[in-house]
Amino acid sequence: MPKEKASPYEVPKLKTFSPSILDKAVEKMLGSLELELKSVTDEAAWKQFRDRWVSRNNGLLAQVNDLWLKAAPKDAKREVGQRVNDLKKQVETKVEAVRASLSTLAEAPAEKPKRQQTQASVQPPRSSIDITLPGIHRPLGAEHPVIKTMNEIVSVFRDLGYSVQEGPEIETDYYNFEALNFPPNHPARDTQDTLFIANQESKPPRDRLLLRTHTSPVQIRTMEKMKPPLRIVIPGKVHRNDAADATHSPIFHQVEGLAVDTNITFSDLKGTLDHAMKALFGSSVKTRFYPSFFPFTEPSADVQISCIFCGGKGYRDGARCPNCKSSGWIELLGCGMVDPNVYGFVDYDPTKVSGFAFGMGVERIAILKYGVDDIQSFYQGDVRFLEQFL
Ligand code: PHE
Repeated sequence: MPKEKASPYEVPKLKTFSPSILDKAVEKMLGSLELELKSVTDEAAWKQFRDRWVSRNNGLLAQVNDLWLKAAPKDAKREVGQRVNDLKKQVETKVEAVRASLSTLAEAPAEKPKRQQTQASVQPPRSSIDITLPGIHRPLGAEHPVIKTMNEIVSVFRDLGYSVQEGPEIETDYYNFEALNFPPNHPARDTQDTLFIANQESKPPRDRLLLRTHTSPVQIRTMEKMKPPLRIVIPGKVHRNDAADATHSPIFHQVEGLAVDTNITFSDLKGTLDHAMKALFGSSVKTRFYPSFFPFTEPSADVQISCIFCGGKGYRDGARCPNCKSSGWIELLGCGMVDPNVYGFVDYDPTKVSGFAFGMGVERIAILKYGVDDIQSFYQGDVRFLEQFL
């Protein structure tokens, strides 16, 4: 059975006025006061509580005056009077203390635990929450400019129907070099300052591990598992034994591309990269293909774009353009037609298929697009630099 709620305290009439009876009556009244003040949690409740106890009209103290003091026989008046006075003081002090505790809570909610020790369950009143205070500001994270640029490059090729492939950063000599037509001890290996993993001497040379120097090994890994036709982009992190300075970083990013099909020609390569450069730098950008060398492409080319700073003129504001060294062109990426030797490593028939490949540095493109003057800014984690790319 549910417990019945105790009915509210009422001032009893007294039949006798002996000191012990009086003491008990006082004790009971103060006990009720203690109980009632626990449920006073806000200003409105406190006003009710105050009126019930100390209202001059018909508050409990006023009733004590009538029912105890006035009703007492003459010879008991002294005893009763003393207790009633005492009681009055105690009740009034308590009522005032409850109000004070409410306003302190409103001003300083942090003091709540301390208050609660003396004022058992006094809760902070609703009015103590200032809903106009600003909330806790949690800054949103954002894409790093290198990742943002990498995604942008990737999406240019995804729009052309390319799919995305990735591979490991710790590679074997075979994938990073040998299958890409860099024979062992070939001088072309020297162009890629390689970081080798230690203690690999017990393994056959092609199984020795290194940090990949380019994303090209993923060309081989993909051709091993997929038959042509193939159109892929390969974003990823690469490593070179370069000292860090304003234009070099030992760790940087590349986006590689590979298309293999029947009848793919150098014109397809030119058209694809010309489109990609215009998509990245604006439609007025021109491209130029300059003879170059990579062991895994033949013929090979470096792609240059018309200088985006001087519009390809070579001079700007009446002076030589420093960005293109007044040549009007900026070198941006390497490319070429896949060397038929490479197909030999992946079981593609070079008499049936042909293709092209290209590889570009992401930081280099971000530096040009955003006018960054030091590649190190990308890796220092300075929020003032990073938030410019939001
Ligand atoms: N892997 C080459 C480099 O890092 C770039 C490249 C990729 C060149 C694909 C041609 C074809 O220098």
